[in-house]
Amino acid sequence: MKKVIYCFSGTGNSLRASRIIAEEIGGASIVSVKKGVESDLASDADMIGFICPVYEWDIPETMKDFAEKLTVNKNAYIFMVATYVAVHGRCFETMDKILREKGTQLHFGKPLRCVASQCIAYEPFPFPKLMVPYSDSRARVIGKQIAERKTNSYPKMSPITRKRYDKAMTPFLNIQHEYDNGFFTSDNCVGCGLCSRVCPCKNITMNGKQPLWNHNCIGCNACVVYCPKKAIMFRTPEAYEQLDNIITHHMGLPDKRTRYHNPHITAKDIISDGEEIAADGNK
Ligand SMILES: Cc1cc2nc3c(=O)[nH]c(=O)nc-3n(C[C@H](O)[C@H](O)[C@H](O)COP(=O)(O)O)c2cc1C
Ligand code: SF4
Ligand code: SF4
Repeated sequence: MKKVIYCFSGTGNSLRASRIIAEEIGGASIVSVKKGVESDLASDADMIGFICPVYEWDIPETMKDFAEKLTVNKNAYIFMVATYVAVHGRCFETMDKILREKGTQLHFGKPLRCVASQCIAYEPFPFPKLMVPYSDSRARVIGKQIAERKTNSYPKMSPITRKRYDKAMTPFLNIQHEYDNGFFTSDNCVGCGLCSRVCPCKNITMNGKQPLWNHNCIGCNACVVYCPKKAIMFRTPEAYEQLDNIITHHMGLPDKRTRYHNPHITAKDIISDGEEIAADGNK
């Protein structure tokens, strides 16, 4: 049986979930959506998965653009797992709509709670040492359900969130591609270029040894958290100040910006365009 998981991941949570789920379903090809739709695996796969984070109560545009262009086998079992921290919003509805336009549908959708990856806006939470093992065990449970080809009427955006969507999300969506406006390098930068290689949007060019951000950013935080020298500095975008205020002051998180990435996922893993995971978890 041919199984393929299309993954988008900035800070590694979704790639980690993809690997665990691949193992639970007896092995699968994990293809990074950065690769574009050159790979036609989905046209004759029996099982197709989409695994990505929730961004601004929806799926990241990288995943949306990719899914829209993909040719899928209409008879395949199709699932989606969205990694998130608090509000999954309309991400499953978006994917289902894309699939229905292709003559099929989302058969199974599950949100998977993980550590919040937006360190440029607020301190990552919940505490990674506790949260990462929890997310791993939930991913295993979800993987087992997928292996059994369970179906569900995936979670929808709640009526309250739906009502607030436009007002709440517009400030973030307006600055989406300029998330990198406040990025700059400290003297610790050694010009290694790793930041430009982990970027899913080819948004960072190297001017000699100096990275330059070109404002085609999707805010994935990969460059910031995977820089080996922690040399990428940032100013929190104005649009996030209110959110930071809620998280830092009302939830009592420390006013820090620890650079979090999933501890099981390296920069090399993020750069890689695809991998085969066998049933025993080996590559
Ligand atoms: C730009 C951005 C927007 C996000 N928006 C949401 C959101 O709307 N709801 C939510 O619960 N989490 C949100 N998050 C948190 C991520 O969905 C979560 O940390 C996810 O596991 C990150 O996956 P990754 O490590 O594979 O990139 C956001 C993170 C980023 C970077
Ligand atoms: S990854 Fe860090 S050290 Fe390397 S070029 Fe980018 S900012 Fe500089
Ligand atoms: S510039 Fe950095 S934050 Fe923006 S998309 Fe690229 S890696 Fe992600």
